[in-house]
Amino acid sequence: MVRDGCEVLSSVISSQIDQHSPYGGVVPEIASRSHVEALPSVVAAAVRNAGVGWDGLDAVAVTCGPGLASSLMAGLIAARALAYRIGKPLLGLNHLEAHIYSVFLDRAAPPPSEIAPLLFLTVSGGHTNLVLMRGLHDYEMLGTTLDDAAGEALDKGAKLLGLGYPGGPAIEKTSKGGRADYIRFPRGVSSATNGNLANGLNPKMCFSFSGVKTSLLYYTKKHPEVFSNPSVFRDVACSYQAAIIDAMIRRVRFAVGLHKVNALACAGGVARNTLLRDSMTLLAGETGIPLYLAPNEYCTDNAAMVAGLGGALDMAGIETSPAFDVEPRMPLA
Ligand code: KG4
Ligand code: ZN
Repeated sequence: MVRDGCEVLSSVISSQIDQHSPYGGVVPEIASRSHVEALPSVVAAAVRNAGVGWDGLDAVAVTCGPGLASSLMAGLIAARALAYRIGKPLLGLNHLEAHIYSVFLDRAAPPPSEIAPLLFLTVSGGHTNLVLMRGLHDYEMLGTTLDDAAGEALDKGAKLLGLGYPGGPAIEKTSKGGRADYIRFPRGVSSATNGNLANGLNPKMCFSFSGVKTSLLYYTKKHPEVFSNPSVFRDVACSYQAAIIDAMIRRVRFAVGLHKVNALACAGGVARNTLLRDSMTLLAGETGIPLYLAPNEYCTDNAAMVAGLGGALDMAGIETSPAFDVEPRMPLA
C-alpha cells in the first residue's frame, strides 16, 4: 500500500525461497501455486497494516510482465478480482519499470521530474539493463544482456559451488575477506566488437554472463582442490563475484561518458550486493554525478515498487495497460 506514489504505508512480502531452494532455482509450478495460496492473506495483511481499510484504496496496481507466465497470471487474476470487488481501476504495469521506480519510494531519490535524466543499472535475477530515464515513463534502453542476467550468473555460479539458492547473497557471504584478483574471470562481450549488435545496441553497453559461468565450471573441473581448501574456495567465489560486478561497472562508466546525465541509479535484486553498491558509490565519486541506490528492502521483488509506480503514473495522468492479459516478454521501452 503506497500513498501518493511515494509514501509506503505497508509492505508485505511472502518469500518462496524455502520452497525453491531444494531445487537450486525457481520451479515455475511451485511459484504459481504458492502465489495462489499466499495472495489472499498477503493482500489482507497489506491493507490491514496500512490502516486505511478497503475503502481507502484508490486503485489496484499489478505486474503484467515480464516474468513467468503462470505466476503473472496468478497475480493478475487476484488483482482483477480485487479491483472488481472494490470498484476501483486496475493498473497493469511493467516489472522492470517498477524496479526502476523503487529508487523513488519513500523519497530515497527526489522525483524523476527534478533529477532526470538518470542512468539506471537495473539488475535482477532475470534482467540486466542499462537504461536512460528521461522522465517518468520515458526510457531508452542503452544496453541489455545477450544471454544470462547478472543475478542468474550468481545463482548458477552458487549452484556450481554448492552454495544453494538464492546464489547472490550466498556468494556475497562466502566472498567476505577473499581475494578478488585470485582468478581473472572474463568480463563479457569483447571490447574488440565494432559497430552495433543485431539488437541495435552498442556492445560496450551490453552484458554477457554465460562466459564467466562456463569459466567457473572449467576452473573447478581443473582444480578440484577448490572444494577442499576453504581459503581457495573463498577466493574463487570472491573472484567470481568481482568479475560480474566489474563487468557491470565498466558498462556504466562507458555509458556515463556517452550520455550526459544528472544522476546515476541502481535497482533490482542484485542491487542489494554490497560490492555493487560500493562500486557504484566509487564511480559516482569519480564522475561527480549523484547516485541513488534503491533502499535495500525494495531491491528484491516487492509490491511497494509496483504500487508506487501505479500511483505516480496515475497522478501524472499517464495511461497504463488495461491489464487484460499477461505479457511474459513485455519490453520496457
Ligand atoms: O529482482 P529480484 O528479486 O527478482 C527478479 O526480478 O529476478 O532479483 C533476484 C536476484 C537473484 O538472482 C538473487 O541471487 C539476487 O537477486 N540477489 C543478490 C543479492 N540479493 C539478491 N545478488 C547479489 N548480492 C545480493 N546480496
Ligand atoms: Zn524483479
